[in-house]
Amino acid sequence: MGAVVEVEGVSKTFGHGELAVQALKPCSFSVQPGELAALLGPSGSGKSTLLLSISLILEPTAGRIVIAGQTVYDHGWTGIDDRAFRRRHIGFIFQQHNLIPFLTAVENVALVMRLNGIGSREATRRARELLGYLEIEHRAGSLPANLSGGEQQRVAIGRALANEPPLILADEPTAALDTERGTKVMALLRRIARERRSAVITVTHDHRMIEGFDTVYHLDDGVLTKLPARGAVEAVAP
Ligand SMILES: Nc1ncnc2c1ncn2[C@@H]1O[C@H](COP(=O)(O)OP(=O)(O)O)[C@@H](O)[C@H]1O
Ligand SMILES: [Mg+2]
Repeated sequence: MGAVVEVEGVSKTFGHGELAVQALKPCSFSVQPGELAALLGPSGSGKSTLLLSISLILEPTAGRIVIAGQTVYDHGWTGIDDRAFRRRHIGFIFQQHNLIPFLTAVENVALVMRLNGIGSREATRRARELLGYLEIEHRAGSLPANLSGGEQQRVAIGRALANEPPLILADEPTAALDTERGTKVMALLRRIARERRSAVITVTHDHRMIEGFDTVYHLDDGVLTKLPARGAVEAVAP
């Protein structure tokens, strides 16, 4: 199987003329199934811009993006149904959990399965199973407001995994957590890459969190560079 995501010469400029800001200079990279990649860089360096472009939320200015073998962007969107595509192929984890406040943990996870056409009972069963995998099944009936920050983030990860997407994108998923909980969330993302063979790209500006990644990218003022990875656990199949 080929790369889950291939980015070729993707750039993004906000605004026009004198006010134009090139948030992302042309950048290229790819991520394989089972690979855990970190994206580091200071605030304002273009990390979210890159992640939102890959998730078909923000339109790049130029370049090409291929996800799961489908060209989604080629100097313009290629006309795929972005919502349906995202639901099937991409799980997104935000800095803030973004859970629906009036739905319980299990309902939050089941909802995205329902949107993908899975029946109510089956969705609930699978959502419970997923919460079990994330070691949070005992909180299945709780509303987000009654969960701790770490628990909320695990439910949000459950939601991102719900439709078993080949690509998981996380934008500073540990920013709202203390170091211990943050480390656990990172360990969970690592396990997801290893066991479920998803490609995982996680943005962090916390250098304490970069142990155990297969690949580490650094963004500085919109320029992407690949750093030597530290502590890569296993070789990634091409
Ligand atoms: N919607 C927008 N309109 C204009 N400028 C933006 C917008 N989003 C981001 N930027 C600018 O692009 C640059 C990169 O932002 P961002 O990708 O959010 O950085 P990071 O996630 O690394 O903190 C910053 O200079 C930011 O001000
Ligand atoms: Mg950001």
